Amino acid sequence: MVRTLWLGALLATAASAQAPEAVSRTGTAEMMRMLERIEPKDGWLATPPGLSGELWDYYRTAFGVTPKGNEPNDLRVGLGKLLFFDKRLSRDRTLSCASCHDPKHGFAEPRAKSIGIGGQVVARNAPTIMNAGLQRSLFWDGRAKTLEEQAAGPILNPSEMGMPNRDAVEARVRELPEYEALFELAYDRAPEFDDIARALASFQRTLVFVDAPFDAFRAGNKDAISADAKKGFDLFVTHCRSCHPVTLRAPLLSDGNFHNVGIGFESNDHQALGRAAFPKVRAADRDASVDVGDIVGQYGELGRALVTKLEYQVGAFRTAPLRNVALTAPYMHDGSLATLWDVVDHYNRGGTPNTWQDPQITELKLSDTEVDQMVAFLFSLTDRRFEVENKREHEAQRRRARRAKSAGVVK
Ligand code: HEC
Ligand code: HEC
Repeated sequence: MVRTLWLGALLATAASAQAPEAVSRTGTAEMMRMLERIEPKDGWLATPPGLSGELWDYYRTAFGVTPKGNEPNDLRVGLGKLLFFDKRLSRDRTLSCASCHDPKHGFAEPRAKSIGIGGQVVARNAPTIMNAGLQRSLFWDGRAKTLEEQAAGPILNPSEMGMPNRDAVEARVRELPEYEALFELAYDRAPEFDDIARALASFQRTLVFVDAPFDAFRAGNKDAISADAKKGFDLFVTHCRSCHPVTLRAPLLSDGNFHNVGIGFESNDHQALGRAAFPKVRAADRDASVDVGDIVGQYGELGRALVTKLEYQVGAFRTAPLRNVALTAPYMHDGSLATLWDVVDHYNRGGTPNTWQDPQITELKLSDTEVDQMVAFLFSLTDRRFEVENKREHEAQRRRARRAKSAGVVK
């Protein structure tokens, strides 16, 4: 208890020591309030709301939520939270992890593509980090295996947070004497880069949001979701389940595999990208100092093929998890679809046929009513703690989708 109080005081000191907020993003204090609001009543380390102890034990084992050498505890999680909101981790002190993974926007951001330091546009849409601990691989192309491995990416990526090297990051953290003390307590040593990544991973693993009205429906409460959402679920089972499975073993409604569903083919020449990128990827294989992350910045549209060098995976991306998807518009790896209506319309048309599109993507011939029902189902996957945001977003997306229809915008 004393430990927790002390940690709270440190968090407050560190938050107030930060640079002024960048104008266009949510303020850190506001984000922290949001985080407090959604904290489970038994704390972030307890069994997450909506899960039985048995199921949580299963997930912890199946998804490696308690990694050796970084077993979660309140100090590591608290430290990770502090780092997650700290702009010191970016070269010009303007961006924290939360700038692009904003709790007020479902731990993602409303831009199609992220903007890194100095206004640079990042190659892809920022995915939510809600439930990131329950993913089998990370990033849209699955190039990172663990959250510990992933955290180094954005900090050192020149177009995201742009820190020059690991030493520079450690020096930033040492600027704050409180951090020295916290790292000693959490990891028994002075601040070092790998422990920064470990603490960030520990914090992110606590963000489990799998308690949606749909789960209550599956557990037997037939009134937990609307009649439209129930019809939408039946349609989803018929048309979408092959890649977005609905089982307890796949809690995020993703098969964790990579598929080309025809996104990004209207505006890119994948043949040309491939010709330019593959020699560089092969060179990176021979020279360990070349970071695949840099290549992704330029040729990211090639998707999983950049990681595996398998041509059939050109334009293939990780099946997006669908929990809380209502909160994280716009959609797809490039943020090119503005609403869930646009997403379902895209599938309904049969994607954007291209050489590498998954053969499971075919025209569905859903009526307008059925499209609405499918969307209603997707909105039933939002954790109860975001009920208000979910309603607001449903209205906003519906208005936007109607406007687009009446203006005759056919994408
Ligand atoms: C400039 C915006 C930006 C910042 C700052 C940023 N991220 Fe990200 N994040 C992204 C984008 C964009 C992606 C997707 C990149 C890709 O797939 O190639 C991503 C992906 C991720 C993922 C993978 C999620 C998934 O489902 O695969 C995690 C986890 C993550 N970021 C955590 C962090 C952490 C921790 C920090 C701070 C150290 C951070 N991010 C800073 C934009 C950002
Ligand atoms: C062949 C496998 C496959 C099928 C079938 C499929 N999906 Fe997907 N889904 C994916 C992949 C892969 C992505 C990410 C694609 C990308 O960004 O390029 C995705 C992305 C999404 C997203 C965007 C999520 C986000 O956070 O951006 C939604 C929503 C979605 N799918 C819903 C559906 C629905 C509804 C259906 C049925 C009509 C469906 N999917 C059928 C593989 C599939």
